[in-house]
Amino acid sequence: MSDPLDLLVLGDANPDLVLTGDVEPAFGQAERLVDEARLTVGGSGSIVATGAARLGLRVGFCGVVGDDPFGRFLSDELERRGVDVGGLVVDAARPTGVTVVLARPSDRAILTHAGTIADLRTDLIDPARLERARHVHVSSYFLQQSLAPELPALFERVRAGGATTSVDPNWDPSERWDGGLRDLLGHIDVFFPNATEASRIAGIDELDDAILALAERAGVVVAKTGAGGAVAAHGERLVRAPAPAIEVLDTTGAGDVFDAGYLGSMLSGDPIERSLAIANACGALSARALGGVDAQPTMDEVLAALAEG
Ligand SMILES: Nc1ncnc2c1ncn2[C@@H]1O[C@H](COP(=O)(O)OP(=O)(O)O)[C@@H](O)[C@H]1O
Ligand SMILES: [Mg+2]
Repeated sequence: MSDPLDLLVLGDANPDLVLTGDVEPAFGQAERLVDEARLTVGGSGSIVATGAARLGLRVGFCGVVGDDPFGRFLSDELERRGVDVGGLVVDAARPTGVTVVLARPSDRAILTHAGTIADLRTDLIDPARLERARHVHVSSYFLQQSLAPELPALFERVRAGGATTSVDPNWDPSERWDGGLRDLLGHIDVFFPNATEASRIAGIDELDDAILALAERAGVVVAKTGAGGAVAAHGERLVRAPAPAIEVLDTTGAGDVFDAGYLGSMLSGDPIERSLAIANACGALSARALGGVDAQPTMDEVLAALAEG
């Protein structure tokens, strides 16, 4: 492949099996019926990649799947949605990760088998794709246990080649909230926690103070605040942007589609204010359907939403 990539996503890829219904699971071999079951693209990284491709960016994805039906489903879905999967690694010795989501109207229970989710390492990343990317995004930092310790060196290499970097930490299942992340911040151009994650990582409850502290090291810190929208810190400056008021069906993956929108805007040269507005529209519009990928907007849909709002 010789075409440049706007975005290379290094990250987690697994199918999500989303079960919908007002149901409480029970042991004792009790069988309960749900309203709907849908196998869809999951994993923060694959949702960012498909979201950015939908917006019209040239996107590549590097991650690891197993040689099994879940892995093939994921690879086919990424490709069908316009993502270059030439850098996707298939490990025949390992099972693809999978997540089961039980979604009730107001809450979700989530069970994940990690499988290959944490298996990506620098030496598995196609160097040609890495060199041709204008921007490199790492999703679910705390799940990437093999890649995480290698990221300072990798990001140094990426930036030396003139590209930019971003990280979405997502939740830390260990709840230690560091794992080398604080040392990585100085190599990150855009850092994308949600509000809770930002506070935990900074060790500061008040969100504005937390992101200002993180922005002493990272280039721009963008905290997602759900229905509130987002707030960014750049140096000592704070920029706030409300989310559009929309009817929300399911916010799974909204933070990832938000990241895709912000990066697409940033890469086209927009200022932070505009990137936040586009990102909020992307996050909100993606919540129109169940799962993380089926309501990802095109840029035309985003611009129409912004014109209305
Ligand atoms: N109820 C909502 N109404 C409108 N926009 C929303 C809503 N929930 C989420 N969003 C959009 O999606 C973005 C990400 O959601 P959030 O839940 O904060 O992040 P994460 O999914 O990473 O936890 C928000 O910043 C906002 O733009
Ligand atoms: Mg998130």
